[in-house]
Amino acid sequence: MDLEAARERLIVALDVPSHQQALDAAESLAGHVGMLKIGLELFVAEGPNVVREIRERHPTLGIFLDLKLHDIPNTMAGAIRSARSSGANLITVHAGSGVDHLRACVDAAEDELGVLAVTVLTSQDAKACKEAGHSRSTEELVAMRAICAREAGCKGVVSSAHEVSKVASVAPGLMLITPGIRPAGSATGDQRRVMTPSEAIAAGSSHLVIGRPIMRAANRSEAADAIVREIARAQEEHALR
Ligand code: C5P
Repeated sequence: MDLEAARERLIVALDVPSHQQALDAAESLAGHVGMLKIGLELFVAEGPNVVREIRERHPTLGIFLDLKLHDIPNTMAGAIRSARSSGANLITVHAGSGVDHLRACVDAAEDELGVLAVTVLTSQDAKACKEAGHSRSTEELVAMRAICAREAGCKGVVSSAHEVSKVASVAPGLMLITPGIRPAGSATGDQRRVMTPSEAIAAGSSHLVIGRPIMRAANRSEAADAIVREIARAQEEHALR
């Protein structure tokens, strides 16, 4: 089994409120996962220093800054420029505003940060999309936004695993990052469009974002290792690297 490749596919959402909790979690996960995702809860509380410190302590771990920026292009570009020196490898922006907004972000990132476009949140089901005023299906909306992301030069797309095969066909060559992953038997919480790790790999996800099933486990590194083994088995079954 190619555990190394499986590990690279696993991104853990470091959804904790403090610097110390983040450092402790990073310490227990280093060597067990490919990347850590720093989201709004931690970034709003602690700012870019926490990103820098994790980078310094664990240089081999990738850092994905999940700020889901959504503003006018000038403001988004400014935020991206500010994030460039943080040590993060990837940053998320919302894809719903069209190609020009995304292109402004990609230009501002230069070669220092990969821009990922969030298509439709995995907490949004068809009812939520309708309430938000969208008449298209979730899959159509994700596909349209993925096409914009590719045109703008984004490095990848964030969607649920239910849409990755569609994204791969309309916007090939992108990283396909999927949150909303739940190992069999774990609570879904507020997530709606979920899949297990092996189902997501079979569907074509390149990277899985997993938060609570690992962060709330009694032993985080063991929970991560179990998921890595499941990913590795699915890779093997589907003849993936
Ligand atoms: O705990 P859980 O596994 O649900 O965490 C998923 C993580 O992925 C959260 O940090 C959430 O903000 C993020 N995310 C998501 N859906 C998206 C984009 C990001 O759940 N479309």
